[in-house]
Amino acid sequence: MFSGPGFVIEPFRPGDLVSVLKLVQRSLGEEIPYAFFLQMSTLRPDYSLIARDPATRAVLGFIVGTKEAGHEGRVLVFAVDPEAQGQGVGHALLARLQRSMLLQDVRQVHLEVRADNHRAIEFYRRHGFSVTGLQEAAYKDGADAYRMMKPLH
Ligand SMILES: CC(C)(COP(=O)(O)OP(=O)(O)OC[C@H]1O[C@@H](n2cnc3c(N)ncnc32)[C@H](O)[C@@H]1OP(=O)(O)O)[C@@H](O)C(=O)NCCC(=O)NCCS
Repeated sequence: MFSGPGFVIEPFRPGDLVSVLKLVQRSLGEEIPYAFFLQMSTLRPDYSLIARDPATRAVLGFIVGTKEAGHEGRVLVFAVDPEAQGQGVGHALLARLQRSMLLQDVRQVHLEVRADNHRAIEFYRRHGFSVTGLQEAAYKDGADAYRMMKPLH
């Protein structure tokens, strides 16, 4: 499923930047430099995706991935607006990114998630990811991260 009743998945465009930066703060409580999104969407346009409400044009969520050496892919940033969570938006964004990666012969997708982010960890487990390691004090506030990985077939 790459869309749902209330959203469509589209490539990130520079005009979405302000909405995405606000969403980063609301959903992740972080600040990510705007240059990151512009660089990643230029480098890998098919790995920088947003979910949009087609009626209001509002950005409901986004995902940014990259391809690394060999056949490895990575989810770099991923968030859905708190008010739009639980409606399949996250599922659709991840599924669309995985499809793009598969088309470019990515065979394993990696990501890091805060060890205290239980909902996201469960979400990833249900989507076929397993914990492969722990990265201690990975975040500025000292929180640990789990490394997770999913084979793509
Ligand atoms: C993790 C995250 C991206 C998932 O996005 P999401 O849009 O909520 O994901 P989905 O709706 O596809 O699935 C989430 C849940 O909704 C359920 N769901 C899916 N479609 C649904 C629907 N149509 N109606 C109701 N529930 C639905 C799923 O079963 C799942 O169950 P859960 O509540 O036990 O997790 C989102 O929770 C988020 O942005 N969290 C904060 C930021 C974050 O943690 N990012 C990841 C950092 S690594």
